[in-house]
Amino acid sequence: MQILNLISKKRSGGILNKEEIGYIVKGFVEEEIPEYQIAALIMAIFLKGMSREEISSFTQALALSGEIINWTGIEGKRVDKHSTGGVGDGTSLVLAPLVAAAGISVPMICGRGLGHTGGTVDKLESIPGFKTDLSIQQFIEQIKQIGVAIIGQTDKINPADKKIYALRNATATVESIPLIASSIISKKIAGGADVLILDVKVGKGSFIKKKDRAKKLAELMIEMGKEFGIKTMALITNMDYPLGWMVGNALEIKQAIDVLKGEGPENFKELIFCLGGWMLVEGNRVKNIEEGKELLKELIEQGKGLEKFEQMIVAQGGDSRVIDNPDKILPQAKEKIKIQTLQQGYLQDLDARKVGVAAMLLGSGREKVDSLIDCAVGIQLHKKVGDTVEKGETLATFHVNNQDKLHLAQEMFLSGCRITKRKPKKISLIYEEIK
Ligand code: URA
Repeated sequence: MQILNLISKKRSGGILNKEEIGYIVKGFVEEEIPEYQIAALIMAIFLKGMSREEISSFTQALALSGEIINWTGIEGKRVDKHSTGGVGDGTSLVLAPLVAAAGISVPMICGRGLGHTGGTVDKLESIPGFKTDLSIQQFIEQIKQIGVAIIGQTDKINPADKKIYALRNATATVESIPLIASSIISKKIAGGADVLILDVKVGKGSFIKKKDRAKKLAELMIEMGKEFGIKTMALITNMDYPLGWMVGNALEIKQAIDVLKGEGPENFKELIFCLGGWMLVEGNRVKNIEEGKELLKELIEQGKGLEKFEQMIVAQGGDSRVIDNPDKILPQAKEKIKIQTLQQGYLQDLDARKVGVAAMLLGSGREKVDSLIDCAVGIQLHKKVGDTVEKGETLATFHVNNQDKLHLAQEMFLSGCRITKRKPKKISLIYEEIK
């Protein structure tokens, strides 16, 4: 087989068979096929799409590029959750320990930031010492001991997705239904999940802008989950506006701690209780979603979710003093710059993509495969859509270390804010549940 022929086959809309896909994925992981050829192939997939069979073969090849975690002999169901990517979406940071506190095992395999969206792995690494590249043995042991662990793809667990994910981020090939579905489901196959709850984001700040495409992606992943023995369901949720108050790695850790302490933003908590409630229902821990939500609220009130988060930080080598002293332990930006408005009225729009891009311009995301990110920087929002705004009021605080692109970030942010005299309609956060 010749990689050049396979790239041109895909470029002309041809269908790659299972052997061809296996050859490409193996060749990339073993460094026989260079990154630039895979980048060209991914762009061809992005433009031409993939058949249903190709998606399954690609997903399987990604998962089999490393080991599949074997949980035989370890009791209970393993329940995971994954989001297709959003702005301010730090829900996994709260859900994993909180659901584990209810007695369910949550072995989570996540990713780094993609495009203008943040990644759970980058966020957790802003806690000094926190390791996201555990060995398989350490991952299994941690689940046995405390019921929760969050890692990224490693050289042993889905190495192909690790490399392709980073490449997609640097080649503007993220927004592709086959590539998103295969990336997510391959991680869940590799992690040996029994149950998966998907948060499929739709709207300005999502990789998927339209509800019909979000539904198509959700249905595809549900079907694939079932094909690979994972009981899967999806929530379609609103990503027109950022979730919560914080956008940035360390800032989102601080917010997750607040939520586990019973504080934090309402829209964020609404989503936590809904996704977490379904994790408990589908994991057979409770009978219905209302019971699930109640249990999660109780666990927060009793401090059990926070306790579990602390145990996970300790187990993964992080500095657990972050729980009591987030501002002291997490990296802090040198400057805090207020972004004010000269208008008066209602905040009609706060474009999630523009907020995410502004945070990236401050240094929270990557432009190249090997770009270094700055965990301390980001955007703290003070107003949400629907709020009244007075002249001179602060809309957000930028946490800044390097002023090089500050002006661009300010312009980007303000171009996403629309203030009008008309009171906006109430926003729905959760559009649909699909099984
Ligand atoms: N999350 C993933 O793991 N992969 C994607 O492609 C998008 C979101």
